[in-house]
Amino acid sequence: MTSVLRLEDIAKSFAGERGTRQLVLSGISLNVEAGEIVWLRGESGSGKSTILNISGLLSTPDAGKVWINGDDRTNASSRTASLVRSSQIGMVFQSSNLMPELTALENVLLASSQPMTRATITAQLDRFGLAAVADRQAKRLSGGQQQRVAFCRALINQPSLLLADEPSSGLDSTNTEAILDAMRTGASGGCGVLVASHDEVFQHVAHRQLPMKELLIEQK
Ligand SMILES: Nc1ncnc2c1ncn2[C@@H]1O[C@H](COP(=O)(O)OP(=O)(O)OP(=O)(O)O)[C@@H](O)[C@H]1O
Ligand SMILES: [Mg+2]
Repeated sequence: MTSVLRLEDIAKSFAGERGTRQLVLSGISLNVEAGEIVWLRGESGSGKSTILNISGLLSTPDAGKVWINGDDRTNASSRTASLVRSSQIGMVFQSSNLMPELTALENVLLASSQPMTRATITAQLDRFGLAAVADRQAKRLSGGQQQRVAFCRALINQPSLLLADEPSSGLDSTNTEAILDAMRTGASGGCGVLVASHDEVFQHVAHRQLPMKELLIEQK
């Protein structure tokens, strides 16, 4: 088994009101293997996005270790973190984070780590039912279309780890099915997927569920 993501004893707190600290995570450990879809589920505010941001090296834990594809990246510089993200990690954020003035196609092209033809990117967009809006500016796309472009962008470099934060929000059942399919395809090609969501639909693709309640109970 090959671990694509391993979190070990992670703690994270944020500055609260009047100089207090809010402890969001402590003693969190989890593992995602290559080819595995793991569903992180839990109530709003339970810390799912915080775990994904730490896993994507966008946020540094107060304590604990972050391993990506067997390498300890806990204290990676922002330059190294950015290189690891572009070569090994695909991320779908809770808000789609597209460049609003760029088209759907340009948003995906911008994320690709090697030169790609228009036809290659259009074919990828087509998998998500987006070929017809490839040349539309992101700010003129619906929320669900933006979410699908973000998903397409996250997969364009064939990452070994996909981190998806509420990827089905704003999508109807047909489009949700498109992203579930993309997850299955990614996983069968060896990509490890960590998806954070309250949406029960992920039970259809997840190999394993990690309820936040259980993760937090396990903490010391
Ligand atoms: N940058 C931040 N600064 C201060 N507090 C934060 C920050 N990010 C998250 N928090 C707090 O950490 C807790 C967990 O937030 P997080 O976004 O991880 O939850 P979540 O499980 O993803 O929730 P949701 O399902 O609503 O997306 C919340 O109480 C939130 O207010
Ligand atoms: Mg969240």
